[in-house]
Amino acid sequence: MTAFERQMEEARQLVETRLAEFFPGSGLAEAMRYSLLAGGKRIRPVLTLKFCEAAGGSGTVKEALDFGCGVEMLHTYSLIHDDLPCMDNDSLRRGKPTNHVVYGECTATLAGDALQAAAFQTVLSAGGTEGSGTVCALAAKILAEAAGERGMCGGQYWDTLGDGKPRTLEELTEINDKKTGALLRAACRMGVTAAMTHRTVEDAWTDAAREYASNLGLAFQIRDDILDAVSTREELGKPIGSDAANRKTTYVTLLGVEACEEKVLAYTAKAKEALHVLPEKEAVAFLMELADRLAERKN
Ligand code: IPE
Ligand code: IPE
Ligand code: MG
Ligand code: MG
Ligand code: MG
Repeated sequence: MTAFERQMEEARQLVETRLAEFFPGSGLAEAMRYSLLAGGKRIRPVLTLKFCEAAGGSGTVKEALDFGCGVEMLHTYSLIHDDLPCMDNDSLRRGKPTNHVVYGECTATLAGDALQAAAFQTVLSAGGTEGSGTVCALAAKILAEAAGERGMCGGQYWDTLGDGKPRTLEELTEINDKKTGALLRAACRMGVTAAMTHRTVEDAWTDAAREYASNLGLAFQIRDDILDAVSTREELGKPIGSDAANRKTTYVTLLGVEACEEKVLAYTAKAKEALHVLPEKEAVAFLMELADRLAERKN
């Protein structure tokens, strides 16, 4: 195992263990747990943890972990809703039948709603209650902006409009930046915010988080679109050909797979460039390798 792989495994373990502590019980809680604990790469909470570390916030792991778990809950809600028949109408997610296939559309919708509320509750109570109220409020505000009309929901609206109109490359970039970039940006920025619990944070570090995540987000969604076209259901853990079935304009339909691969590499390089101003170099090295690995990811 390389140093990167070990750090990734450690961060993921922290996240899995913390996530498993939420939503005990049956009924709606069971449906929430079903999707939340189904696996997933946990990229967003790992980003939160590592940006906290990169900004010198190693004493604030508890806050960063709960901020990251909040983002992961919100992300999971977005996936449950994204798979509903009224949206992408998909039946496989994280290698398992989608939430609505198992629990029905009504419960799946509510499981998503409740995960969104829980996301904010988790962020606002992060790391216990002593002294971090303002930092938690700041993080919740970042998440709210990213989740709403100007972020993920706004992007999803445009993506699923089904107006049959082709999208230009510029429009598609804006859609991707909102539906996928916004939450990744929030994840990174909330990591830097967590570090504020115990230290002063420079504006340039927040800007670096924003710039890294924006470029990573575009690379991430283009890679997602490539995989939807060329991967297999087994490897991806979700259906392939979903975009074509829904007649989506994607980077792949506009540019073809080969040009998309180049775009992924170009956005990845830009993401990495943004990191140099951050003070903790070990975490910076991790974030650089993470960007490279995501550019080549197979699921
Ligand atoms: C899938 O996100 C939805 C997109 C934004 C493309 P991920 O690829 O991070 O999904 P999980 O969390 O690993 O299942
Ligand atoms: C959705 O993009 C991104 C979200 C905000 C959930 P996709 O619809 O391409 O994501 P997948 O491929 O279903 O994971
Ligand atoms: Mg979708
Ligand atoms: Mg989808
Ligand atoms: Mg997709």
